[in-house]
Parts: sequence; structure tokens; C-alpha cells
Amino acid sequence: MAKAAKKSKSSIAASPAASAGKVPVKGGTRVAGESGSSGAPGINIGIDRADRAAIAEGLSRVLADTYTLYLTTHNFHWNVTGPHFNSLHAMFMQQYTELWGATDIIAERIRALGHYAPGSYAEFSKIATVPDVPQNPPKAMEMVRILVKGHETVSRISREFIPVAEQAGDDPTADMLTARCTVHDQTAWMLRSLLEE
Ligand SMILES: [Fe+2]
Repeated sequence: MAKAAKKSKSSIAASPAASAGKVPVKGGTRVAGESGSSGAPGINIGIDRADRAAIAEGLSRVLADTYTLYLTTHNFHWNVTGPHFNSLHAMFMQQYTELWGATDIIAERIRALGHYAPGSYAEFSKIATVPDVPQNPPKAMEMVRILVKGHETVSRISREFIPVAEQAGDDPTADMLTARCTVHDQTAWMLRSLLEE
């Protein structure tokens, strides 16, 4: 995909709502709430308010999906059965530990942009694209299939928001999302390899 051209600092300042409409909003609702109080100075990091809102909204969706995939992977770590128990139990632990660490990084980037991070099942279930954990534990290889799809979904959602961050000059968010895509693509490949003869 071609990289989106970055805006200059002056064009960011001149177009306060430039990217507000670019983020696909699930269900037409805004998902990120702005934080702050009259006692603290306003945020002045070179990314205007509308752009910070649009990016925080995208990151909230990435957070909801990453958390849902984390919980699914941890559930599968607990409930996997069969002849591949040892290797899958250990591999799922490695994967859920990585996902758990990622949720903190994503949430704290939302806070750095001046918005509250969603962090409840109610909020996550409204904005997540990854389906909830299956009620009954699937067979081991079905678990692997579900996780392949989950990692690919989070990769697609994360990739969708990289141009939004780039266009706002938010390199830290663009870099973070790029790093998340690298992890999800690699994990999907490793899991998919288990399913190939
Ligand atoms: Fe454990």
C-alpha cells in the first residue's frame, strides 16, 4: 500500500477537522472520550484536537480487538485438550502474554492523546470486530483456526488506521500500529503452519 503523504505542521494547524471523518466508526458511535480538567494545561503535542480524537477512536477499536483476542488465547491455554496439549498450552501462553502487554501500550497511547481508554466488557463488546470467546471449548485445531482468523482481523484493523495516524503526523502511533501488524502477521503464519500438511 502506498504511504499517505504527511501533512506539514502548518497544514495540520490550518485544518482542525481534517481527518475527523476518515475513521470508520462502528455502529456510528464515537468510541473515545476526551479527558482533561481545567486545572491542567491543554495538550500541545503538535497534533490537533480533531486528529487526536480520530486516532484515539481507531486505537480504541484496536484495543478492543486485541483484548478480545488476548482473552480468547488465554481461554484456549486453559481449555486445550488432545495429543498436542503440551505444545499448544505453552504456545498459547506465549501469545496471550504478548497480547496482554500490547493492550497496555495501546491504551496508554490513547491516554497520551488526551482520551480515556475503554476497559470494560460492555465497551469492548460494542466496538470489537473479533468475535467473543466460544462458549464451549473447540477441538485443538479449531482453536488454532480461530486464532489465525483473530490475528488476521486485528492486523487488518490496525493497518486500516496507520494512514490516519500518518496523515496527522502521529509517527509514534503509526509506528506502534506497524509493529502490531508485524506481530499479528507473524503469529497468524505460525498458527496457520500448524494446520498445513
Ligand atoms: Fe497457565
